[in-house]
Amino acid sequence: MTSSTNQVYPVIWHNNSVSLIDQTRLPNEYSFVEIHRSDDMALAIKTMIVRGAPAIGVAAAYGMYLGAREIETSDRREFLDNLEKVAELLRSTRPTAVNLFWAIGRMMKTAYESLGTVAEIKQTLLQTAQAINTEDLQTCQAIGDRGLAALPKTPEKLTILTHCNAGALATAGYGTALGVVRSAWREGRLMRVFADETRPRLQGAKLTAWECVQEGIPVTVITDNMAAHCMQRGLIHAVVVGADRIAANGDTANKIGTYSLAIASLAHNIPFFVAAPLSTIDFQLTDGSQIPIEEREPTEIYQIGETILTPSGVEYYNPAFDVTPAKLITAIITENGAFAPSDLAKAQTKQVG
Ligand code: MRU
Repeated sequence: MTSSTNQVYPVIWHNNSVSLIDQTRLPNEYSFVEIHRSDDMALAIKTMIVRGAPAIGVAAAYGMYLGAREIETSDRREFLDNLEKVAELLRSTRPTAVNLFWAIGRMMKTAYESLGTVAEIKQTLLQTAQAINTEDLQTCQAIGDRGLAALPKTPEKLTILTHCNAGALATAGYGTALGVVRSAWREGRLMRVFADETRPRLQGAKLTAWECVQEGIPVTVITDNMAAHCMQRGLIHAVVVGADRIAANGDTANKIGTYSLAIASLAHNIPFFVAAPLSTIDFQLTDGSQIPIEEREPTEIYQIGETILTPSGVEYYNPAFDVTPAKLITAIITENGAFAPSDLAKAQTKQVG
């Protein structure tokens, strides 16, 4: 167990394989799964051993290298054709987080643009996966610092509500929304985090709460339906959430329940921030209606452990994400600064200060 969440790295290249923190077992068990093959990486992403948009991007990048390593040919054309099949498998795992597609796209581009032998292309692919990993860590630290500057100036110590887990576990490390929280904590600007439980998979109760405990950040876990009440009681000064895909107009897909939080924030005049790397922005989509929303197994709704919660004969609908309209978002915090959703195009250019 680590003494600081700062040291939590959910995806580690180690001994010629990938070590993933098994996020399905936290907080009760801190253990790793070793991944040697691309199909096992695809399964780990699908079953959410690794989850969170940037983290699945990093994992998929390594999955691409593992897949490349499995291809036994020295013929460049044949190699690239087979690598396309690896990409296809990894792309089929989860549809909403664009970082997955972004990372796979970058790996494919690297392969096509590498002029050396197949063995050399494989080596370049490993280096690219490692670069994606390192860059994401640096990006999250920048998001944390940019977010700290964007937070309300009063009161001096803020209580921040967050949803799902957009922390170290969901990225290469440090986190996006939780990166902002972490930077605020380190600068003495944080009183406490309120963590939404986040039904149905409980990423807030299990993962965000665990990360906060690791770092000694005071955390209060609430069930999702308590958020508006807490706002009404004046307990929340700002909401900071992550994102899985942001359209060009600022509409933001994030964990189911984010949209209702944004509505409640507006009703209570509480600033609502989205923290995400540029790799989460899909400038090809004009608005959020074009973002594919993953639907997951109904068991996530009706079963907890061995216990069945609902009577037989009912139907289920289990969308894993929702889209918060840009007009409800105060600012989108990227590694290049905080931007009003209407100014999102400017995020592609690094801001000074
Ligand atoms: O289904 P999950 O757990 O992968 O969903 C994660 C989220 O919705 C996060 O908020 C998002 O990926 C941002 S992670 C920095």
